[in-house]
Amino acid sequence: MKGLALIVGSGGIGTQLATDLSKSEKELDVVLCGRKRQFNSFWELNIEDSQSLLDLKNKISNHSSNLRLVVNATGRLHSESLKPEKRLQHLDKNIMMECFSINAFSPILLAKTIEEFVPKDCDFNFASISARVGSIGDNQTGGWYSYRAAKSAQNQFFKSLSIEWARRFPKAAITLLHPGTVDTDLSRPFQKFVPEYKLFSKEKASQYLINIIKNQSPESTGKFIAWDGSEIPW
Ligand SMILES: NC(=O)c1ccc[n+]([C@@H]2O[C@H](COP(=O)([O-])OP(=O)(O)OC[C@H]3O[C@@H](n4cnc5c(N)ncnc54)[C@H](OP(=O)(O)O)[C@@H]3O)[C@@H](O)[C@H]2O)c1
Repeated sequence: MKGLALIVGSGGIGTQLATDLSKSEKELDVVLCGRKRQFNSFWELNIEDSQSLLDLKNKISNHSSNLRLVVNATGRLHSESLKPEKRLQHLDKNIMMECFSINAFSPILLAKTIEEFVPKDCDFNFASISARVGSIGDNQTGGWYSYRAAKSAQNQFFKSLSIEWARRFPKAAITLLHPGTVDTDLSRPFQKFVPEYKLFSKEKASQYLINIIKNQSPESTGKFIAWDGSEIPW
């Protein structure tokens, strides 16, 4: 791959992806976008803010190389206000809105923002990190209502996008990714019951995800894929 790569979300997985991609893909100009500078090539971005997304458009326009890869690695499972619900009675509209804002609406609005830079004549990859818990078919334990539903909504948004872009940008590949359980701030409060062998370091998760991203092609667009390359049911 040669050109501009945007890794959006300067958290555990996003920062590791930017670091590893810049080392292994010498012809990619990797820029990490987010709220915290964690990498030398960095653009400030609040993905939930419309003006910030417009600013991103200007930055891409003014950049010398063509956009070839975008990875959305933003997401939120918990915050000061957001706690994953264990029961129906924990549901709260404001919390649901916060969860959908970052996990469902922002990733697809990111796609809308960068659409004018998607090339028609060369390969382009857009990967968005979802989560296996967003799979409706795989839901066996319930709970985490808002996070699960927001990731399912993200999956549906990107499935529709993959169909639209297959017509308009035949060289584009869209992928939804499940990174496994990764040792980052997002999973930290929930790691107690995760067996050691199932808890990946950021470095390991990044290698798995990069392998998948590099193997995506227009023929495989619109799939929901786990760290080991297996397809996850919707
Ligand atoms: N870790 C896991 O076990 C696991 C499992 C399945 C799926 N995932 C998914 O993997 C992705 C990456 O998560 P992670 O594990 O790397 O967690 P993380 O370290 O918490 O990273 C998430 C990042 O999203 C950023 N973000 C949140 N709201 C934002 C906004 N409005 N604008 C810009 N950035 C924003 C956060 O930035 P701030 O630091 O500024 O808030 C944070 O850097 C997420 O989509 C997550 O759902 C993770």
